[in-house]
Amino acid sequence: MTVGLTPHSVEAAIRWAQMALGSAGIDGARAEARLLLRHATGLSAERQVAAPDRCLDDQQASSLTEAVKRRTRGEPMAQILGRREFWSLDFIVTPDTLDPRPDSETVIAAALARLDSRDRPYQILDLGTGTGCLLLALLSELPAATGVGVDIAPETVRIARLNAAQLGFADRARFIVGDWTAALSGQFDVVLCNPPYVRTVDIDGLSREVALYEPRRALDGGDDGLAAYRALIPGLRHRLSETGLTVLEVGAGQADAVSGLLEKAGFAELLRTADLGGIERCVSAIPDKNSD
Ligand SMILES: C[S@@+](CC[C@H](N)C(=O)[O-])C[C@H]1O[C@@H](n2cnc3c(N)ncnc32)[C@H](O)[C@@H]1O
Repeated sequence: MTVGLTPHSVEAAIRWAQMALGSAGIDGARAEARLLLRHATGLSAERQVAAPDRCLDDQQASSLTEAVKRRTRGEPMAQILGRREFWSLDFIVTPDTLDPRPDSETVIAAALARLDSRDRPYQILDLGTGTGCLLLALLSELPAATGVGVDIAPETVRIARLNAAQLGFADRARFIVGDWTAALSGQFDVVLCNPPYVRTVDIDGLSREVALYEPRRALDGGDDGLAAYRALIPGLRHRLSETGLTVLEVGAGQADAVSGLLEKAGFAELLRTADLGGIERCVSAIPDKNSD
């Protein structure tokens, strides 16, 4: 369908955007139309409802047109809006960062459930930090904690730093470029990681939002989806204090294999936590005191 909007009322613009998005096969087209209108005009949902006859100016109409075009091509909402909420915090999202998923909040819940106290000065490590969402969400719950986020991609680390600054954690979070634990020394109390875990052959079959627009290095887990776990788990124990805790996100059906890798690397007391869809979404573990 031809995409283009002449200056029009709020309600007409929403209907036009809804139609364009619906024709492109996008579910929840009306809700998305409202979000894109807000992005283009700054008008909150309440003001859109309260003033349906208000006219968009030329710039707002062309900004909405552009946003709708991008969305109909399959670009994820988070990249168009440039933001995504995670753990009730607002994160900057770009094509260089994975769009934080609600399922990953399971990692935060699992970590909090196993920590004795929220007031200790824990040192946290987040491997494959992306937007920094895991580290910064956990810091938001642990007021005395500090942390380091690591990512292989400098452009991703730049966004994580911006997120730390805009969320007020710049004094407690540091971000570095590195290959998993290779650039690190010292020990941490908590190590979080949401590695790429999609089998290479499955990537092209994912939704176009993911397959075409998310960074491949954030998705690609190699032939069986477990390549990153194999690469990073052996180095984990050296970076974890004796009483430390690690929480790893896993893909659907990967909990057994990742648990096996953790046990082999000297971890014990493994616990699995399911996401809201009932899928085992993370495995947490502590160092096995009987293994060296
Ligand atoms: C699945 S994303 C997770 C991003 C973020 N932690 C989240 O939960 O939304 C995986 C991240 O790992 C990073 N990554 C991939 N290979 C890496 C490596 N060898 N060392 C460090 N980070 C890596 C990617 O750049 C990507 O940001």
